[in-house]
Amino acid sequence: MAKQVNRRDVLRLGAAAAATGLRASASAGEKKQEPVRIGVVGVGGRGTGLLRLALKAGVEVPALCDIKEAHLNRAIGIVEKARDGRKPEGYSKGPKDYLRLLQRDDLDAIICGTGMQVHAEISVAAMKAGKAVLSEVAAAMTLEECWDLVRTQEETGRLYMLAENCCYLPHMMMLENMIEKGLFGKITYAECGYVHEIRSLGFDGQGKLTWRGEMWRDYAGNLYPTHDLGPVARCLGINRGDRLVSLVAIQTRSDAIYDYVNKRFPADHPARKIRFKMADSTSVLIRTAKDVLIDQRCDMCSARPAFGAYHAVQGVKGCYDSRLKSIWIEGRSKGRKWDPQDTYAKEFEHPLWKSLAEKAKGSGHGGIDFPTVYSFLEAVRTGGPSPVDVYDAAAWSSIIALSGKSLAEGGTVQEIPDFTKGKWETRKG
Ligand SMILES: NC(=O)c1ccc[n+]([C@@H]2O[C@H](COP(=O)([O-])OP(=O)(O)OC[C@H]3O[C@@H](n4cnc5c(N)ncnc54)[C@H](O)[C@@H]3O)[C@@H](O)[C@H]2O)c1
Repeated sequence: MAKQVNRRDVLRLGAAAAATGLRASASAGEKKQEPVRIGVVGVGGRGTGLLRLALKAGVEVPALCDIKEAHLNRAIGIVEKARDGRKPEGYSKGPKDYLRLLQRDDLDAIICGTGMQVHAEISVAAMKAGKAVLSEVAAAMTLEECWDLVRTQEETGRLYMLAENCCYLPHMMMLENMIEKGLFGKITYAECGYVHEIRSLGFDGQGKLTWRGEMWRDYAGNLYPTHDLGPVARCLGINRGDRLVSLVAIQTRSDAIYDYVNKRFPADHPARKIRFKMADSTSVLIRTAKDVLIDQRCDMCSARPAFGAYHAVQGVKGCYDSRLKSIWIEGRSKGRKWDPQDTYAKEFEHPLWKSLAEKAKGSGHGGIDFPTVYSFLEAVRTGGPSPVDVYDAAAWSSIIALSGKSLAEGGTVQEIPDFTKGKWETRKG
């Protein structure tokens, strides 16, 4: 009988294939020997980066879509160059033109690299059209969209992966490994945040709002929850033995964005009149079914040096903090002194990173974009399970809508739906 392939196997298989340049290498599941054929919807900064990685991995790209012709033409040029002049067909007739691309029967999968507001709509349509989906983060803006993604994935059986590259951070994969081996004891608390000053990305060259700026204008809440919560949720076994149960949100004033606007745009510029719902900092406290507390912060506009996502966990026997790049384990660390996290790499580094480190170098975000794309392609090829599946995508992304609702109601407690419908208690992998 064929061995059942789980998520961890997929990571390893992806690593093996990537390291050797082989295409299909799984021992189970449906295999595809030809190059995977992908279309990319949204070829701005991120979509183009993912396209380049996919091309490097050997995919065919029959079609591309973007509402901005300049972006589309740039991406078509990249594919043409990489594929000896074979030109992909371009789709650029408005925001629903991706539907025409999805009608093609020469695509196995799509990568969705648009702004967040349309990820769910495009992903749902793609799965209904029989395509596998790699969706950029976050998966969805509303609870209805989260449910729609889950329902559609279950009904169609198509592969859906959230491109949460922070799940591939080497130190977070090592931490997951160490927690599984019991080094920290039971985990009681986690702290995480996306604290990344990106105010300039809210506006284009003329001062018009980009999709990010529109999101900051239209929504309150933690609007970018997956880079920090995702890896922490993996460490806690969320949707695999535990689950997110409820949250409460609280926020600061919105001063930093206006400070920026006032400095950048003259007094009569229309940007000066825009009112933003997003606060400078939003804090969300999340409780899990096993009474773990997750303390999460999002801040995209406060002035500060470059940073990004941070992650910390506290267990009964030890703790980890990515801001200190340090680990402390009772009985193992000397006295009360932190150990540099790298001290543990030799013994606990995840097997994926052992085989991938060289290949991943320079692939973007410190190398984590490479395993994200490879793991997806490997899952498409093998018919294997999704490395970051629709239940994770829905649970992590639901923080956007629920933190917004909590804030709107003056800090009420919001229940987080069980998107697995009870399967979380026994799910593995
Ligand atoms: N994982 C990461 O590290 C990471 C980093 C950056 C961005 N992102 C995510 O990637 C996505 C894109 O971000 P970006 O910085 O590249 O933005 P961007 O504005 O540069 O690119 C978005 C592209 O989508 C196109 N688009 C919008 N609506 C469309 C539609 N209906 N059909 C076709 N094309 C459409 C736009 O014209 C644009 O070219 C976002 O979801 C963001 O959260 C992730």
